[in-house]
Amino acid sequence: MAIADPTLALNADRKRARELGDGNAELCWLATVDADGWPRVRTLVLRDVAGGLALFVNATSAKGRQLSRDPRCQIACWYPSLQRQWRLDAHVVPVDRAILAEHWRRRPRSSQVLDHVYVQGFPQSSALADPKAFQAAHARLDESLGDHPEPPPEALALGLELREAECLQIHPGTRLHERWQFRPGASGWQRQALVP
Ligand SMILES: Cc1cc2nc3c(=O)[nH]c(=O)nc-3n(C[C@H](O)[C@H](O)[C@H](O)COP(=O)(O)O)c2cc1C
Repeated sequence: MAIADPTLALNADRKRARELGDGNAELCWLATVDADGWPRVRTLVLRDVAGGLALFVNATSAKGRQLSRDPRCQIACWYPSLQRQWRLDAHVVPVDRAILAEHWRRRPRSSQVLDHVYVQGFPQSSALADPKAFQAAHARLDESLGDHPEPPPEALALGLELREAECLQIHPGTRLHERWQFRPGASGWQRQALVP
């Protein structure tokens, strides 16, 4: 590991993973804590937004509520093509609405419509009492939203403000694995090897 800045190192790994056709290149696992203190983890797309990393979530979802209560999260990435795991400790911060809108307009139509369905009586992650009513609401909004809908206020892009990071390099065979921790220091990021 030659790079001391974890954002640059992770970006370089994501680029290599994409080039190698890694199925995890665009993904991450986001851990939050719910109101009862239970850890909650789920798969999300990790996006490059305005020179940083961001997550697209709907504010009505369980994770949206958890992150509005506590902006701290941990994110894991695993790239089989590189045999490399990343763990990021971050605070989420709302991305500027104009930048969000620009990215949101490129999302698949179904995701755009869903963002509107969530705020019209079907909050994401809530109990689905009437699947037919949900499908009808989706179809109705698909009809009425027009060709170029705008994101509802509950569609969020959450930027990641990195607090700490860690990278684990798995080596096959008998070579020992390597592990590095990245922490902010007085003169930029400090890298420290850890027992793997
Ligand atoms: C490959 C994959 C990518 C996903 N990407 C996203 C995403 O970018 N944003 C999102 O809100 N949910 C995404 N999901 C769905 C989440 O994993 C999760 O099921 C959903 O957001 C509800 O989570 P919550 O109840 O913890 O809020 C993705 C799921 C998979 C399997």
